[in-house]
Amino acid sequence: MDVDRSLVLKLFEAALGADYTTVRRIGGRIARDLAEVDAEGAKALQAMLRKRGVPLQASGYVEALPRDAGSRLPLVEEMAWPTSPLFLNTDAGHVIEQFIEDANNIALLAENGISARLGILLYGPPGTGKSLLAGHIAARLGRPFYVTRLDSVISSRLGETSKNIRGMFDFIPTKDAVLFLDEMDAIAKLRDDRHELGELKRVVNTVLQGLDSLADEVIVIGATNHPHLLDPAIWRRFPYKAELLVPDSAVRASMWSYFLFQDSDEDGASDLLARLSEGMTGADIENFAHAARRRAVISREDLNLAPILLAVATNKEGAPRLPDNRALTVDEKKMLSQILLDRLAMPQTEIARTLGVSRQMIHRYLKGCDDG
Ligand SMILES: Nc1ncnc2c1ncn2[C@@H]1O[C@H](COP(=O)(O)OP(=O)(O)O)[C@@H](O)[C@H]1O
Ligand SMILES: [Mg+2]
Repeated sequence: MDVDRSLVLKLFEAALGADYTTVRRIGGRIARDLAEVDAEGAKALQAMLRKRGVPLQASGYVEALPRDAGSRLPLVEEMAWPTSPLFLNTDAGHVIEQFIEDANNIALLAENGISARLGILLYGPPGTGKSLLAGHIAARLGRPFYVTRLDSVISSRLGETSKNIRGMFDFIPTKDAVLFLDEMDAIAKLRDDRHELGELKRVVNTVLQGLDSLADEVIVIGATNHPHLLDPAIWRRFPYKAELLVPDSAVRASMWSYFLFQDSDEDGASDLLARLSEGMTGADIENFAHAARRRAVISREDLNLAPILLAVATNKEGAPRLPDNRALTVDEKKMLSQILLDRLAMPQTEIARTLGVSRQMIHRYLKGCDDG
């Protein structure tokens, strides 16, 4: 690969000027060029670029960072691009791919008279990956990722909230940014009686004005757990909408594989877990998997599938039963055998293999359950 001198100069200039957005962009170009001669090297560079986000402080924005007058907390921050993978159901995946394609072609669309503000609203239950997805979109677009949590912008002081929101929208320092408004339902919570009636309306208006004041190139992502609480005018400001539902079975299998087995599982264990974990979110699965791995590491033993299966199958929302890594008692083995039979219609030989006991034993367990 020939070294492009002007690129190298630009790279150093950007690095010394703490302009990390440009550093990343040049890095991306180098990685693309490099890919033709050194695929490994290009991959490593890309991984590095994905990993290293830069907080606004490091970019020298610290003085300008708008803060809440009371708490002194920053109202908007530049966050690192996420490093962990995202698993999406097919429907949401399609919407996101289309959105990214459109965002990558803003200029072309504008040339053809279709200049629309590119905003996408992500909604769905907590723990389904909305915040993670927002970061992934920024990474895919190679744009700096500015995050503001509406719940932290809402001030208890009268009148301060609108000022905060204005400060936040005024701040967006570069036009090629992704602005992520997380936890948007916080606005609707102003409806409670601690706040005077007019305040909700004022805050909603300030958000609308803020959204309208942004440069066309800024890409806005909103997230909310309660879309029905969102003011309809705000809802309309986001032409794209993606609902993040709890993961389907195939997605759950990928999640188990990644979070529990670091993608090196065998014998369809992830599929088995997926079939027993309907209703769990990505955050739940991550939590479970990490709990199981912690136990295994601390007890210095291999991951033990049976107790994880039992914990997942008997998990109750709100009262999670995290797995431990010890051998199951006889009663627990009976319970798990019955669950695998009832819920998955699993043949006895397979139950035996899963539990690591003989078929005859399973036969006795299941008979015992019938008797009892
Ligand atoms: N769809 C998903 N794919 C991969 N990881 C996920 C997914 N959903 C949740 N997680 C895991 O759970 C964590 C919390 O999810 P988060 O993005 O905060 O959910 P939300 O914003 O919808 O409440 C993520 O950081 C990630 O580790
Ligand atoms: Mg979130």
